[in-house]
Amino acid sequence: MIEILPSLLAADFARLGEQIAQVTEAGVKFLHFDVMDGHFVPNISFGVPVLASLRKCTRLQIDVHLMIEDADTFAPLFIQAGADCVSVHQEACRHLDRTLRMIQSEGAKAGVVLNPATPVETLEHVLPIVDFVLLMSVNPGYGGQKFIPYVLDKVRDLRARRERAGLSFAIELDGGVTVDNVGRVADAGVDWAVAGSSVFGAPDPGQAVAAMRHAAMDAVMRRA
Ligand code: DX5
Ligand code: ZN
Repeated sequence: MIEILPSLLAADFARLGEQIAQVTEAGVKFLHFDVMDGHFVPNISFGVPVLASLRKCTRLQIDVHLMIEDADTFAPLFIQAGADCVSVHQEACRHLDRTLRMIQSEGAKAGVVLNPATPVETLEHVLPIVDFVLLMSVNPGYGGQKFIPYVLDKVRDLRARRERAGLSFAIELDGGVTVDNVGRVADAGVDWAVAGSSVFGAPDPGQAVAAMRHAAMDAVMRRA
């Protein structure tokens, strides 16, 4: 079954504890934490101290998406502050293999992220070592953007490669996921779907998660 990962970028930071409680109650397993440095992406979000305080108020797994140029310096700091999963952009890492192995040796699950325009085949050699692959379905930097549909072809391609190679990494998708397209997202083979504005922009975030999960299950059942 697909996991919905609420993205805290869209949360109300003045009511963060309450909003986390709402999605926890709805049964989510992960929170998605977007880190932006104003260089790799044209925006700045939050950093290590925010993650450290978040770690004190939730037992959910924290999935840290690094949209930064210097992942080698910061990944260990996020892991020490409590990150369970850390993903880095293929486009930002000069020594991707080394960075992924470093994340695992620091004790977190390692993921690699592709921007919409970066082909899946660029990951051929690292697929056997990653714990998950994150495909961006918007150009990173902002919440609330429109879903880019061709990314679903990349999901199908990645799923086929995983099957052919007998691998078991998870496939994550991030950007523009809503209750209206989550059915197609699940049907294409996504395991973890990140959702920011469609969860925290809704009047009841817990109910929004439940509705998305329901729509995803419906689409997959109809196909079966
Ligand atoms: C975008 C971030 C996303 C963002 C998704 O750069 O990586 O995680 O929070 O937000 P929505 O779901 O609003 O597109
Ligand atoms: Zn993200």
